Amino acid sequence: MKKKIKVMTVFGTRPEAIKMAPVILELARHEEIEPVITVTAQHREMLDQVLNLFSIKPDHDLNIMAAGQTLFDITDKAMRGLDEVLTEEHPDMVLVHGDTTTTFAGALAAYYHETAVGHVEAGLRTNNKYSPFPEEMNRKLTGALADLHFAPTQVSHENLIRENVPEKNIFVTGNTVIDALHKTVCDNYKFADKMLQNIDYIDKRVILVTTHRRENLGEPMRHVYKAMKQIVSEYQDVEIIFPVHKNPKVREVVNEELGGLRGVHLIDPLDYEPFANLMHRSYLIMTDSGGIQEEAPSLGKPVLVLRDTTERPEAVAAGTVKLIGTEKDRVYNEVKYLLDDKTEYMRMASTCNPYGDGHAAKRIVDAVLYYYGFRNTLPECFSLDS
Ligand code: UD1
Ligand code: UDP
Repeated sequence: MKKKIKVMTVFGTRPEAIKMAPVILELARHEEIEPVITVTAQHREMLDQVLNLFSIKPDHDLNIMAAGQTLFDITDKAMRGLDEVLTEEHPDMVLVHGDTTTTFAGALAAYYHETAVGHVEAGLRTNNKYSPFPEEMNRKLTGALADLHFAPTQVSHENLIRENVPEKNIFVTGNTVIDALHKTVCDNYKFADKMLQNIDYIDKRVILVTTHRRENLGEPMRHVYKAMKQIVSEYQDVEIIFPVHKNPKVREVVNEELGGLRGVHLIDPLDYEPFANLMHRSYLIMTDSGGIQEEAPSLGKPVLVLRDTTERPEAVAAGTVKLIGTEKDRVYNEVKYLLDDKTEYMRMASTCNPYGDGHAAKRIVDAVLYYYGFRNTLPECFSLDS
């Protein structure tokens, strides 16, 4: 048995960083593990926000982000950069997270180096290869390359079993985003930002909005913003807070449709700490994000998802998340329904925790230690009863 194993985490975007942070902190606690951190920096500012918050200092930074980057640019630059880092570091295992192009490139690069791959947040599926695009295939292809699969829930575990992944290689861990959220949200949080500080969270109803999905760029997003415009013109007690993604293709349409409107606050992406605490204070959330669909239910916030499909069915089944697509009248009607019907609002606002209990990172690292023979027993699975 080896005395020490080298485990390299590879990630590149904001959500990967938020969800890998608890794993990185846990890896650093074990003397049997030599951790190495590599970021592709597929995102730059939005990645750095998270690295700063969790005091994570990458050992390797490929700094690949470029304005207007295509999927080919990201894949190509990440693969070449990772080839060099893997040649230098020779890790025993590469840990990747989720479904971004960095995730897939990380898994493929590790495979080309005949290095074991651990896939954190494995097994989520819509079974529609173009929705979300390209995330569904990124996640599936990463799964095909992975040796260890850290499925957040029983549903994702079953998806992997259906694809003939050997059961002994799947660990149900809960989602690490809940670990991160537990470390970040508190009732008496004070916003540093004056606008966020001055909002009357009791008498006003704050709708928190984010949009960024590639398949929603252009007309679908424009439809959503037009619906929001109608809502603020009709409801004087509604304030929309919209931290706008750095993608210029998102910003342009947001500014055209919502710039300068009363009751709409267009702001830069927030650091994770104020963002998570803003979710906690909001009345409802409208988003096409994956991670927010997981976080908001555990804060008891209704989420209207601006997509037609989701790979996260658990909170939809629990009734706190609703898929509403991007068509203008549907979006307007669904928001109006939740603003007007208190009973429906209260039904959706009940807290549920299908995605985790705050101990996912520990289960993941314990499973890695078990895989390499440092532990005799497997960690207990996450279950809704645990
Ligand atoms: C990426 C992921 C998506 C994930 C999302 C999280 C892929 C293909 N897409 O999508 O799965 O849900 O991140 O937010 O992996 N930009 C900046 N600064 C930043 C970040 C982005 O300026 O810090 C701009 C750049 O112009 C960049 C553009 O946003 O070219 C798009 O970034 P990209 O990573 O290609 O796509 P996302 O939509 O962010
Ligand atoms: N988030 C953040 N600041 C913001 C908007 C979102 O920190 O201004 C966090 C959010 O809490 C969640 C993650 O970013 O943890 C989601 O990222 P995103 O929506 O970009 O990607 P996805 O989850 O869809 O892949």
